[in-house]
Amino acid sequence: MKLLLGLTMIGQTLAFTTRSASVASKRIGSSLRMASSRPYLIGGNWKANGTVASVEKLVAEFNAAGPIPPNTDVVIGAPFIHIPMLLNTLRPDIKVAAQNSALTGTGAHTGEVCASQLKDLGLEWVILGHSERREGFGMAGEDSKLVADKTKLAIDEGLKVMFCIGEKKEEREAGTTMDVCAEQMAPLAEILSEDEWANVSIAYEPVWAIGTGLTATPEMAQETHANIRQWVAANVSQKVADAVQIQYGGSMNGGNAKALLAENDIDGGLIGGDHSSWSFSTSSTGPEHRSRHKKLLQFCTYMTIQRETRQRSVM
Ligand SMILES: *[C@@H]1O[C@H](CO)[C@@H](O)[C@H](O)[C@H]1NC(C)=O
Ligand SMILES: *[C@@H]1O[C@H](CO)[C@@H](O)[C@H](O)[C@H]1NC(C)=O
Ligand SMILES: *[C@@H]1O[C@H](CO)[C@@H](O)[C@H](O)[C@H]1NC(C)=O
Repeated sequence: MKLLLGLTMIGQTLAFTTRSASVASKRIGSSLRMASSRPYLIGGNWKANGTVASVEKLVAEFNAAGPIPPNTDVVIGAPFIHIPMLLNTLRPDIKVAAQNSALTGTGAHTGEVCASQLKDLGLEWVILGHSERREGFGMAGEDSKLVADKTKLAIDEGLKVMFCIGEKKEEREAGTTMDVCAEQMAPLAEILSEDEWANVSIAYEPVWAIGTGLTATPEMAQETHANIRQWVAANVSQKVADAVQIQYGGSMNGGNAKALLAENDIDGGLIGGDHSSWSFSTSSTGPEHRSRHKKLLQFCTYMTIQRETRQRSVM
């Protein structure tokens, strides 16, 4: 759950990223992010975690954190039961997403929550097709047609969708990454109009890099993101391909966020990840944190605090 703090921190590093990337792109050319009209989209995914008390604490931390950089949207994917709390107490510039919605409208579907109900509650976003739901954690998983149908319904009801795709380890090793991604996107491309794509963000999550500590290099991630965009250009339209945000969801963290987000086709992140890798707080910046990873996170937090302090004292 301390992931939230990490999420804020990644948001804060974006301001630096955009600036340094535009300077660097003059030098190095097209391998770095050019002035893109696509805003960054940073999503957090709590998965099935959290208590009332822990959510209260995180909301307080988030509400006290600094401003979100321009051209950046931050969205928290929370369990259904915590959503009303978040809508009532979380700062309004951070949006809230559900982690699933039903295949159907309201009716005799015990235990389901419908897209129309989420909209009615005041939500803007839903995460659909997460690899864990596609796989099924002990129940039947969701196939690509079902995820596409849920997405269409959610969009019809006025929600925006983070539409998750991605390959498993053996598929990456077999060189079938794009076949897998194409199979997952194809049923959606069939049923969405060009306009409706404006309310979709594609969250590419290499399943082998979720919560495993493994990450794709920025170059590997960029290559797949570019291929996904190309697929959208060929199978939907060039206009949609140019506009659609593609988030990276393979263990983005404080150490690699800057390099990943500098890539041309990486428009944000979807961050769940290993809980422990986010375990830091502004009050525990001492040397007791040994891993290099945690130090990086602390450094970023520290920089953010310094920057905020400086801005406040100047005003
Ligand atoms: C996209 O979503 C917005 C609400 O966020 C809605 O007003 C708009 O009609 C949607 N566009 C399409 C094409 O469904
Ligand atoms: C998508 O585009 C590629 C390249 O043009 C093509 O090979 C493929 O068949 C298309 N897929 C679908 C589902 O239309
Ligand atoms: C949720 O909790 C599980 C088990 O403690 C943990 O492995 C996972 O990383 C957590 N996820 C988040 C986003 O906090």
